[in-house]
Amino acid sequence: MAIRKVGVIGCGLMGHGIVQVAAQGGCDVVAVEADQAALDRGLGRIEKSLAKLAAKQVEKGKLAEDAAEAFVKETRGRITGSLERSAVADCDLVVEAIVEDLDAKKALFAELNGICKPETIFASNTSSFPIGEMGSASGRPQNMVGLHFFNPVQLMRLVEVVRTDDTSEESFAAARAFGEACGKTPVSCKDTPGFVVNRLLVPYMVQALMMLDRGDASKEDIDAAMQLGCGYPMGPITLTDYVGLDTTLSILKGWVDRYPDEPAFAIPRSLEEKVAAGKLGRKTGEGFYVWEGDKKR
Ligand code: 3HC
Repeated sequence: MAIRKVGVIGCGLMGHGIVQVAAQGGCDVVAVEADQAALDRGLGRIEKSLAKLAAKQVEKGKLAEDAAEAFVKETRGRITGSLERSAVADCDLVVEAIVEDLDAKKALFAELNGICKPETIFASNTSSFPIGEMGSASGRPQNMVGLHFFNPVQLMRLVEVVRTDDTSEESFAAARAFGEACGKTPVSCKDTPGFVVNRLLVPYMVQALMMLDRGDASKEDIDAAMQLGCGYPMGPITLTDYVGLDTTLSILKGWVDRYPDEPAFAIPRSLEEKVAAGKLGRKTGEGFYVWEGDKKR
């Protein structure tokens, strides 16, 4: 089954990027948000990002200015916004990128089951929740996959494609092909906590925050150590600010509840305190660092 029309529910940090790469890949995309302000913010981010990508192509001599302008116009032209979930009824694929709350995701897929045509594939961009549980709630477990993109979606080249025991071969193949159309390299994952990347990445971020909590090293030194010593593009504390402290905490809370005997899953004190204080990272202007756009101090 070829994916031509895609619905994306949630146009926030991850959702707006998914909308954009799907449109860049040639799909018609419906972006659904709960209110007009959130939708406008998401579409505004897409416009900024497209302008940046186009300017870079021109700067590098890969595209002439008129071709870059056409790229922005055509991509933007494939995207429509809606405040109604019913707008995704005839989509071939619907990707969920709402808040990391399993009950909210299950309720969404149950609702979508009543809205979408029978062959629509459902995908969750969850970082950590079981895809199988969402599949059961959706009433069409054979059509359920995970499509886990990385932040910033426009630049990160990976997508994890998650299959459950119930996912049909056809749904899985279509989801992988969609990931490729979005310009990503797909990797296949089983429905395990954190799939591949977050199972490795989140415990590493936890260890860095615990190091900070113990006063073993400053945040700047921990970040510099991993950037310069291991060649990582960002240090782990900056990365936590980048991913969002609330998202990181909600991943960990879910894991600690479900897998209390797994020592790699633990909640650093500072993470809970910052989230309680509303310091959620780059998106709120402060997390472990204070942010002004891309600059931090
Ligand atoms: N759209 C278009 N262009 C963008 C952009 C966007 N959304 N974001 C950044 N850019 C541009 C920048 O403007 C910049 O352009 P310029 O060269 O013209 O100034 C260019 O991309 C490179 O950005 P930076 O100058 O900030 O330089 P970097 O080389 O540091 O690249 C990065 C930024 C790609 C974010 C890099 O730092 C990186 O790879 N960081 C690690 C990110 C990572 O690990 N992500 C995964 C997080 S885990 C996750 O998402 C899973 C979740 O479930 C928890």
